[in-house]
Amino acid sequence: MHYNQHPRFPQNFMWGASSAAWQVEGAVAEDGRTPAIIDLNSKTKAPFADNSIAADHYHHVKEDVALMAKCGFSSYRFSLSWPRIIPASNGEVNQAGISFYNNLIDELKAHNIEPIVTLYHYDMPLWVEEELGGWKSRATIAAFEHYARTCFEAFGDRVKYWLSINEQNMQIAYGDWLGVSKGCNDWFRDQWRVNHIINLCHATAVNLCHELVEGGKIGPVPGMVPIYPASSHPMDQIAAMNAEEFTEKIWNDTYVFGRYSNFLQAYWRNNNIDPGIEPGDEELMASAHIDFIAVNCYRSNTAKWAPASAKPQAYQLNKTGEKGKLVFPVVPGAYQLVRNPHVEYTDWDWEIDPVSLRYVLRYLWDHYQLPLMVTENGFGAHEHKDENGEIHDQARINYLRENIFQLGLAIEDGCEVISYNPWSFTDLLSTGNGIEKRYGLVYIDVTDDELNQAQLSGVVPPCTRIEKDSFTWYSKLITSNGTEWGGDISHGC
Ligand code: BG6
Repeated sequence: MHYNQHPRFPQNFMWGASSAAWQVEGAVAEDGRTPAIIDLNSKTKAPFADNSIAADHYHHVKEDVALMAKCGFSSYRFSLSWPRIIPASNGEVNQAGISFYNNLIDELKAHNIEPIVTLYHYDMPLWVEEELGGWKSRATIAAFEHYARTCFEAFGDRVKYWLSINEQNMQIAYGDWLGVSKGCNDWFRDQWRVNHIINLCHATAVNLCHELVEGGKIGPVPGMVPIYPASSHPMDQIAAMNAEEFTEKIWNDTYVFGRYSNFLQAYWRNNNIDPGIEPGDEELMASAHIDFIAVNCYRSNTAKWAPASAKPQAYQLNKTGEKGKLVFPVVPGAYQLVRNPHVEYTDWDWEIDPVSLRYVLRYLWDHYQLPLMVTENGFGAHEHKDENGEIHDQARINYLRENIFQLGLAIEDGCEVISYNPWSFTDLLSTGNGIEKRYGLVYIDVTDDELNQAQLSGVVPPCTRIEKDSFTWYSKLITSNGTEWGGDISHGC
C-alpha cells in the first residue's frame, strides 16, 4: 500500500472534542435539575469527588465555548441531561434546562462549531428509576420517548447530528461499573431484558429524529475495543470472535440490521434466556435506520481461549491509577482477556494502541458501510501544574498524534469518517476516579480534595481553565486540517 507522507483529511472534516453532561456540568441541584442515577453511583467512588461540581461547566459556558473557538473547533460533542430537562414524573419540561442548552447551542453556532448531541449518557433521572423501574421496566420507553421528543422539538432547528445512547454495549457488558445491574437478581439473564428495552428506546429516538428534525441524522455510540487474538492458535481466534460478540458486535449488528443476530438468538436458546420481546418490538427495531455510527475508542484488548473448566473471573477495572491493578475477565468456554506484550499501558492499565483506531474504523466500515465519526478517544493521566502554573502533557500529545495519524490512514484506506472528537475538551469527572484521571486539552484547576471540601462548605471553587500544551498542539493540527503534526510519528511500528 502506498501512502502520502501524511494522510490527507477531507476539506469539510469536523475537528472538535467531547464531553458528557454529568461529567462536566456540575450544578446538579440548580435551576430545577433533579438527581440522576449516576449522581448516586458517583458517590460510591470515594475518596474521589462525586459529580456535584465536576468542571462547573454550567457556570463557565461562554468561557468554554470561547476556548473551543480559540482552539479552532468545528464540532463539539456533548450530552443533554435528562433530569435537567424533565425533572419529575409529571413530565413537565423545565424551561431553565432548555434555556441552558439553548445558550450553549447558540454560542456554538455563533462560533461556527457544529453541535453533536448525545441524548443519553448515563444520567437517567432518579424518578424514572424509582417510579417507573428504570431500564428494567417497559414504562421507561414512553418516558424516554417524551424526553427525546422534547429535545428534538427544542433543539432540532439547530442540532442536526444526534447520538442516541452512549455505550449501550459497555453498560450491559460491564453492568456493575456504572450501576446498570443494580436491583437485578440474575444479571446473566436480566441483562438481555434491560438491553432489549434500551434497544427499543434507541429505535424510538431514531424514528423520532427523522420525523421531527429537518435534515436530522442520528446514530448510536458503541464503545469499541478491538479484540486481537493472543496467538495464531485457532482457538484464540475463536476466543477473539467470542469476546467481540459479547462486548460489541451483538450491539452493532442490532443497530445496523434492525434485528437480533443468529449468534445472539442461538445463545439465548442455549441458555434459556427470554429477552422479553413483545409483539410490535421487532417491527419497531426494523423500522429504525441509523445514518452513521459514532465510535468511542481508546484502546484494544487481546483474547485467549478459556476452556469450560476455567475458573470464572469478573472484569475489575483499575480503581486507583496505580499500574497493575486491573484484573482481566475469564469467561469459561468463551474467552479470557490477557495483557498484550506489544503495547504499553496507561497508569490505569489501558492499552496504548493507536493502531486500534485504524483497525476499528476499517472494521466498522467493512462490516456496515455507514459513515463514521469519532466521538471519544483519549489519554487519562495523573497531572499537575509545574512551578509556573503550566501543564506539559507531552504523553497526551504523543497519544493524540499517533491516534489521529491512524485515523488519517483509515480515511486513506477508504473509510468515510466525518469528524474527530477526542475525550475530553476540559478535564472532567471520570467514571470512577474523580478528576484525578484527567483527559482534557484544558486543565481544570481543582483537585478531588478541593471538590470534596467545597461540597461541605457550599462554596464552589473557581475551577480556573488553563490551556495545556496539548491544547496548543491540537489547535495547530486542526487549523491546518491535519498537516501540522508538530513531531515525528511512529507509524504504529
Ligand atoms: C467512555 C465513556 O467509555 O470512557 C465516558 O463514554 C468515560 O463517559 C470515558 O468517561 C473514559 O472512561 P473513564 O472511566 O476513564 O472516565
